[in-house]
Order: sequence, then structure tokens, then C-alpha cells
Amino acid sequence: MNLDLNLNKILIIDFGSQFTQLIVRRVREAGVYSELVSHKKVKSFHIKSNTKGIILSGGPLNVYQLNDNLFDRTILRLGVPILGICFGHQILSKFNGGKVKQSKHREFGLANIYKKNNSLLTKDYFNKKSKKVWMSHADQVYKLPKSFKVIASSENSKYAIVECTREKIFGVQFHPEVTHSENGKKIFSNFIFKICKIKKNWSPKDQKIRLIKETRQLIGSNKVICALSGGVDSSVVAQLLNKAIGKKLYCIFVNTGLLRKNEEKQVIQTFKKRLKINLIYVNAEKEFLKKLNKVSDPEKKRKIIGNLFIKIFERYSKKIKNVRYLAQGTLYPDLIESKSVTGSQTSKIKSHHNVGGLPKRMKLKLVEPLKYLFKDEVRKLGLELNLNKEIISRHPFPGPGLAIRMPGIITKEKINILKEADHYFIQALREHGLYNKIWQAYAALLPVKTVGVMGDNRTYEYLCLLRAITSEDGMTADFYEFKKPFIQKISNKIVNSIKGINRVVYDITSKPPSTIELE
Ligand code: XMP
Repeated sequence: MNLDLNLNKILIIDFGSQFTQLIVRRVREAGVYSELVSHKKVKSFHIKSNTKGIILSGGPLNVYQLNDNLFDRTILRLGVPILGICFGHQILSKFNGGKVKQSKHREFGLANIYKKNNSLLTKDYFNKKSKKVWMSHADQVYKLPKSFKVIASSENSKYAIVECTREKIFGVQFHPEVTHSENGKKIFSNFIFKICKIKKNWSPKDQKIRLIKETRQLIGSNKVICALSGGVDSSVVAQLLNKAIGKKLYCIFVNTGLLRKNEEKQVIQTFKKRLKINLIYVNAEKEFLKKLNKVSDPEKKRKIIGNLFIKIFERYSKKIKNVRYLAQGTLYPDLIESKSVTGSQTSKIKSHHNVGGLPKRMKLKLVEPLKYLFKDEVRKLGLELNLNKEIISRHPFPGPGLAIRMPGIITKEKINILKEADHYFIQALREHGLYNKIWQAYAALLPVKTVGVMGDNRTYEYLCLLRAITSEDGMTADFYEFKKPFIQKISNKIVNSIKGINRVVYDITSKPPSTIELE
């Protein structure tokens, strides 16, 4: 996969730090394109003239392990400004004649650093005598190369910030990319603008203009199909292509019958009526329910839904003649090696639903206009493309939909009950200003009935489970702590309004050990 976007950029060489993706984000947040490559793969001949600066990430290795197979050291001699962070800082010292060894005092957590000399890297950074920074290292530089000077020191790291002015090489022992490091953004903006002298090229508007132009050129007079789900990624892809190629785009929206309440109406209203996109709406509710009849095994449900979805999508896309491309909402974290923000590990636990095998079977080429973007960048691009906030800020919704929020067999009656419960819950979150504080929330219907009493009558009805979690990326999650009046109110509302539910429980497990969805 060629990920070389033809823009001036900062190249980040990943040595396996858990924070590497944060470095990419910090540079992009400053308004400049940045790209991530693995230390094992990148060679100095890959580095083109549009690389205006290089950042070496932290990582778990020891500098003495770095042989030529693991890192092409000639990269350090290209004359491009370099900033080394933590392990990257140790690499710069070691390969320029300094020495690194295990430190007597390991530094993990917050430390204070004190200014020793002026530097372009720390211009306007030390607005007071010391700065709090986040350290996480066992090794440290103990002998500085001759051409280097000290810019700042901490109690345990004499060489907390160093530079070689002549070669434009800079090293920081701490992690300016994490939010615990005070004013860390300044270190990045000084490196990018004062040292590498790059001009801003990465705003949502820049991306909109560039992506529309590039997609238009790529597609020419051909036709493109796109599976629209109403989720953030497919919505942004559809609207981007709509702006780029208009009526040459055909979106297919399959209603599996497992969508949230009124979801199909909203998708049709937004995309067909408001945005005037060619939308093919397929109501396949009956077909899905028939195939899922009496199936209760989670993996079977997922496979049935995924396969049928592809079959239906294929059936309808064949009706459009001369299609050459399939558009997909692939994002940057799906493609890069360090997958810490993708949630991709979950695919080993559950078989995720997507239109994966289709392009080959149908001899289609892929268009993936979002493949350089992180999720938050996709959201900003969506707003720039005039999609409304409600679509852009929607919680994630899994491909198999309500089927995996209903352990046990699936019936029309259960779907209807669940749609109502979920609707009340989400609406209440919105009304109380909680929706955007929560990463994902939903109602589920458990396959047990319990006894209750309403008025003077006995009831024997389903159990509704509510789940609301906070998360960064879906890989790990914690439950959201509601105040009692809210959770009490929503419980009452659900039980009083929905026939079929007489008890509500709140899921307080984190991920791990649980997963976000129930199946
Ligand atoms: P789990 O349940 O694995 O979910 O903790 C992590 C995130 O992934 C979403 N999810 C899916 N998304 N197709 C999707 O597009 C799927 O098959 C699928 N299964 C789970 C889930 O909603 C959560 O945000």
C-alpha cells in the first residue's frame, strides 16, 4: 500500500512506542501533514524531498540492539531536521558519538525540567523557570556527543533536552506528545515551523479541496458504488464523492431490519432528499429475518448477516452498468502498522461485518479517500462538507446492528421492543447533554423474562440492559457513571412506556474483560 501523499510533511519513524500515533496527531493538529513509517521498513532512499522534518518516536528497544536490519542509520545523515523523542533522543546521541546506559534512577511519570540554554525548539516554551513533563524511560544518555549542547535538565536527566545546532538535530528525553507534558504542543510547533519551516497544509478545508480534486481526477468518467450505512465514515465518503463526481456515484443502503428506530428514514432524508445523492434503498428486512430465524449463536448471526449483506449489495450493484470503483471508508489507523487506536484486535474475538471480499469478486477497484485520516479528522472533514452535526457525532454502530444487542433468537417482536428502549435511552442522553460525553451507548434486550408488579398485576417480561461507555478508541472502555436521578428516570420511562420490558439493569463492566457489544 502506497501511503506517500504528495504534500510537504513530517515523517514519524515508529520504534514501537505506545504514544507514536499521538505524535502524528500533534503534528497534524498543528496544521501540517505527517505520516508514520516503521523503523524496520523505512530506508533513506524512500525519503523524498517533501519530507521537511523527521521525528524518531520512543520505543521499548535498547539502542545497542539497533543493527542495520532494524534501522537504516543513513537516515540520520540526510540533512533533514530531526527531533528524537525518548528512545529517539537516545538514538541521536548514541549514533553521533554519545553514550547511553541504564539509568540509576528510572523516571516514570511527571518530572520538572529546568532551562539551561536558549534553543529554537524551546522558544516561548519556558514561560516560567521549570516545566512539568511526562517521563517514561529506564535508559538515558549519560555522555553527550561533542557537537551537542544541553537545553534543559531534570533532576535525574541531565540531558532532558539537547540539540546539535549545526545539524538541526534535537532530542527530548520526555514525551511532549502526551497531554500530561505541559505545553508540549509548543515543542512540536517550534520544530515544525521554526526549524523545519513548513507551511500549514492540513486543515479540513485543505483536505476537502485536495480530496475532491484527486478523486475527480482518479475516477474520470467512470461510475462508483458505495455501501452507505449512515455511520460517520461511509457518510463522509458518500458526501465527498457526491461533491467530486455527483451523479456518477451510486450509494446502496441496505435496511437489514436491524437498524435503530427511524434510522432508514433519516438516511433517506439526509442523503436522497437533502444532499440529492443517487441512493438505492433496499428494504431487505424480511430476507434477513428469514435467514436469522431461530439462530442464537453470536458468530453464526454475524456470518449470516455479513454474507447476506454482501449478496444483496452485489445483487443491486450489478444493476448499475459500467461500474469501475467501490468506495470504502478505510481510515489511516486501519493501514498503519501500529494499530493502537484502531480497535482492530476485536476482530480476532468477533468476526466484523464489512464488504471486504467484494471488490475482487466483482472486479472493482477500490477508492479509499479517507485512508490518510484519523477518525477525528474525518469528523471535521464531514462538517466542512456540510454534513450535519448529528451524523458526524453519532456513536459507532456495529454492522450486524441490533442482532448482536439481542442475545438469543431474533424475532420481529423483540426487535420492535429493543428499538423503542434504545430510542428512549439515546434521546434522554441527548436531552441531558450527556450524548457527547459518552463514546458509545445503547440498550440491549436480554433473553430472560423476570417477574414484576405493575398496578396490582403480576408481569413477566424481558430484561433491558443499558450500556454506556467512555473510551478513546473502542479497544478499552469503562462504564459511564450516571447520577442516580438520570438512571432512575430512564429506567422508569422504559418500563412504563414499553410493553414487554419490566426491569432495567445497567452494565458496569469495563473492556476488558467484557467487550463493548454483547455478542
Ligand atoms: P467490541 O464489542 O468488540 O466492539 O468491544 C468494539 C467496537 O466495534 C464495534 N463493532 C463493530 N463495528 N462491524 C462494525 O463496523 C462489526 O461487526 C462490529 N462489531 C463491533 C462496536 O460497536 C464497538 O464500537
